[in-house]
Amino acid sequence: MSAPIRIAVTGAGGQIGYALIFRIASGGLFGPDQPVSLRLLEITPALPSLNGTLMELDDCAFPLLKDVVATDQTTTAFDGADWVILVGGLPRKEGMSRADLIRANGPIFTGQGKAINEAAGPDVRVLTVANPCNTNALIARSHAPKVPAERWFAMTRLDQNRAAAQLAIKAGVGVGEVTQLTIWGNHSDTQYPDYKNALIGGKPATSVINDPTWLSDTFVPTVAKRGSAVIKARGASSAASAANAALDSVRSASFPTKSGDWFSAGVVSDGSYGIPAGLIYSFPLTSTDGKSWSIVQNLPIDDDARARLDASAKELQDERDAVKDLLGPAA
Ligand code: NAD
Ligand code: LMR
Repeated sequence: MSAPIRIAVTGAGGQIGYALIFRIASGGLFGPDQPVSLRLLEITPALPSLNGTLMELDDCAFPLLKDVVATDQTTTAFDGADWVILVGGLPRKEGMSRADLIRANGPIFTGQGKAINEAAGPDVRVLTVANPCNTNALIARSHAPKVPAERWFAMTRLDQNRAAAQLAIKAGVGVGEVTQLTIWGNHSDTQYPDYKNALIGGKPATSVINDPTWLSDTFVPTVAKRGSAVIKARGASSAASAANAALDSVRSASFPTKSGDWFSAGVVSDGSYGIPAGLIYSFPLTSTDGKSWSIVQNLPIDDDARARLDASAKELQDERDAVKDLLGPAA
């Protein structure tokens, strides 16, 4: 058996954390032959309850789980980590936008970025889930100059999964038939779920669902506002689907992409598609080796899509301006 992959999860005692760590420990992330090692970070008052979760992890007797440490110390949590999943932070409540969390959650990512820089493993990769996730990732990265730009991800996979499900339901097909689906931009209401370049059963989604009004006026806002709809229905923000999307995100970055498909995540823009370099913006990505990735180039972008891509970039620039005081030397 290979050496364990070490995964650090922050906010491990929260709703998403509880849905995430048992799946990682059971082999649901890296498969049935790959041992894992967990580092769980929580704020001090949450440690007693996290201890209960440690008891439950023991009681699952997961053969792949080599060791677990629960701590309130960031450098202990990130020490030697291969992956860091940044979940810890406040979720929004009904009536709030994700950007309303920026001043509450943003400061968490200065210290955590520094601790990743100091303590994480040499090949660490970091997925930010806590909202507003693109800008929190930007803050953390700005404090971690040792960690190269291509190792940072912000989670828009939940949006991709939501978009795939909505298209599949409308077309009356299984969700596996939906491919080449991009979420462009911010994990916010300005995101653009790109149905114009998506395929259903290998055919353009726009020909399978021959209903331009539904695609533009129902599908796009349904996906973009799904987080609010879940909060309204559940009384709490999505947790199991978010944990599932975190697993999908890490897996997509860790294994070669299936031929003819791609996946979405917020990554550091290199200027592709005219998006300002340095912003953490969601693009279509492929990986040939499960280590590096590249942005899918030359997708057709019409005037309507262009306006949507630019609006989301503008929102991210505004968010970056709102946290200027929190940015570190690698900004
Ligand atoms: P939660 O309140 O249930 O759990 C958050 C946990 O983070 C709590 O246990 C809290 O003690 C902990 N925490 C707070 N500050 C911390 C710190 N400095 N270090 C370590 N832990 C800390 O919330 P949740 O439902 O698990 O959601 C977590 C975050 O994920 C929220 O910001 C939410 O908006 C976001 N989210 C993002 C997506 C996405 O698609 N990107 C989807 C769902 C939720
Ligand atoms: C989601 O998309 O469900 C999460 O980002 C939670 C939220 O605040 O919408």
